[in-house]
Amino acid sequence: MSEMTKTTLGGRFTFPGTSLTVQRIGYGAMQLAGPGVWGPPKDPDGAITVLREAVAAGVNHIDTADFYGPHITNQIIRQALHPYPTGLVIITKLGARRPPDKSWQPAISPQDLTEGVHDNLRNLGLDALDIVNYRAMGAIHGPAEGSIAEQVAALADHRRKGLIRHIGLSNVTAAQVAEAQAITDIVCVQNSYNLAQRHDDALIEDLARQGIPYVPFFPLGGFTPLQSSTLSDVAGRLGATPMKVALAWLLHRSPNILLIPGTSSVAHLRENLAAGQLTLSPQVLEELDGIAVTAEVAH
Ligand SMILES: NC(=O)c1ccc[n+]([C@@H]2O[C@H](COP(=O)([O-])OP(=O)(O)OC[C@H]3O[C@@H](n4cnc5c(N)ncnc54)[C@H](OP(=O)(O)O)[C@@H]3O)[C@@H](O)[C@H]2O)c1
Repeated sequence: MSEMTKTTLGGRFTFPGTSLTVQRIGYGAMQLAGPGVWGPPKDPDGAITVLREAVAAGVNHIDTADFYGPHITNQIIRQALHPYPTGLVIITKLGARRPPDKSWQPAISPQDLTEGVHDNLRNLGLDALDIVNYRAMGAIHGPAEGSIAEQVAALADHRRKGLIRHIGLSNVTAAQVAEAQAITDIVCVQNSYNLAQRHDDALIEDLARQGIPYVPFFPLGGFTPLQSSTLSDVAGRLGATPMKVALAWLLHRSPNILLIPGTSSVAHLRENLAAGQLTLSPQVLEELDGIAVTAEVAH
């Protein structure tokens, strides 16, 4: 890895209370499964190339789940990268399963969670998982209130047994974060957030005060990539692509934001990693902040 790459992936961040330090720009592996996050990718060699290219460029934070594929994404990660380089942090999730009808169903009983831990260990080829996020199912448009204590306590048991090193949360409310923190240390929170969808602004500030990273999923809009004339205008003026600007905006938004953009394309990967080199002026940031206001009004 060149010195330049090391210093341009957004800088480093250490998960609180851990020895795990990552570059702020990581990689989300969901796009490596087939269409609809189901089955093998159309281009298995391409998927392996994307992962190896990411790690060669200095990425040391990969987000995954054994329910992507299911199993496929973890198996590709293992095929591409095992034995894993020192310092690579693989973060996985529990809380869902994919029945043959390809739907997403909750898998939240203690037995489901135990099976999920062992599926991840087997398919990733690991003895222990660095960080496991408990992913609450929530409602269609985001998290829903309700106790997650039983599930967090079950993960804490696996942590005591040494199968999980640290615990995070995903698709949760501020109240659920507080509930989980009364049970165990929470080292990261992964929720849906991007330029146009900013319901978690207050939660990001609160986590920043505690030194806990906030990891936006759908940073580029997810299944419906971001589209905004303001974003395109700004990108045009800066000589960058809209996606690169959207990621740079997240890096500027708060120092506790870590990125895991997903892509199956090496060209997109390179563009996404280059977002760390893009500095946005206060005027540009203000202009981009206006996108969420417009999106709220349009909604
Ligand atoms: N906790 C959760 O519930 C949850 C939910 C969803 C996702 N996640 C995690 O979050 C990660 C990120 O979310 P995501 O992958 O769903 O969505 P995303 O990163 O917002 O966007 C991915 C989409 O954008 C495209 N894309 C990526 N880079 C691009 C670029 N430079 N230019 C143009 N298009 C680009 C990808 O297509 P190409 O493949 O063609 O580049 C893909 O269609 C996932 O990979 C997953 O690890 C977590």
